[in-house]
Amino acid sequence: MKVLVAPSILACNFARLGDEVADVTRAGADWIHCDVMDGHFVDNISFGSAFVEAASRHTDRPLDVHLMITNPDRYLDRYLPVAHSVNIHLEAEADVPETLARIRTAGKKAGLALNPHSPIDSIEPYLKQFDLLLIMTVEPGFGGQPFLEDMLPKIRAAAELRKKSHLDFRITVDGGINIATARQCREAGADVLVAGTSVFRSKDRAAEIAALR
Ligand code: DX5
Ligand code: ZN
Repeated sequence: MKVLVAPSILACNFARLGDEVADVTRAGADWIHCDVMDGHFVDNISFGSAFVEAASRHTDRPLDVHLMITNPDRYLDRYLPVAHSVNIHLEAEADVPETLARIRTAGKKAGLALNPHSPIDSIEPYLKQFDLLLIMTVEPGFGGQPFLEDMLPKIRAAAELRKKSHLDFRITVDGGINIATARQCREAGADVLVAGTSVFRSKDRAAEIAALR
């Protein structure tokens, strides 16, 4: 599977959202990753659907929405119109199969996200119900944290499970991704690289995206 680079706008300059999104689009972003946080599921509030909609007006790239919110069922419909994919957390207070099915019924890609403490076995009941598996490689909530090396075996196990089950979901890694950790994740089987700080704080974003890929 071709590796995709998805810059996370959590790390952009919010005062210049449109220019930032347009800039990483020109720099070669495959997807634009949008980290929605509610202050309950994680200890931070980022932005909501109006911000995601505003970002969508400055790019032709697919928007990959990551809902770090306690109640994805309640807010899902606000993101579906502009999203290409929506990732919900296994740990959220939601009917996971039903929420994933709603995303697919809307014609979008359904993503299941796993916090670091959730073991890979916990996805087994949901195999075939998602198109993307998002493995958090930091504790969710904040950008700029160091990559958790302990997540590498989990990425490998996810890739093995995918192969063994003859499935074709993409494996996304999210948190602490830079050129060194991207290589480790890629070798372990990941094929979507979410990168906030490393792309937005880079002096040459096009070179950074190319190097990550
Ligand atoms: C963390 C978010 C990540 C984060 C990535 O809660 O889900 O997408 O913004 O940012 P960096 O690349 O800075 O770790
Ligand atoms: Zn994210």
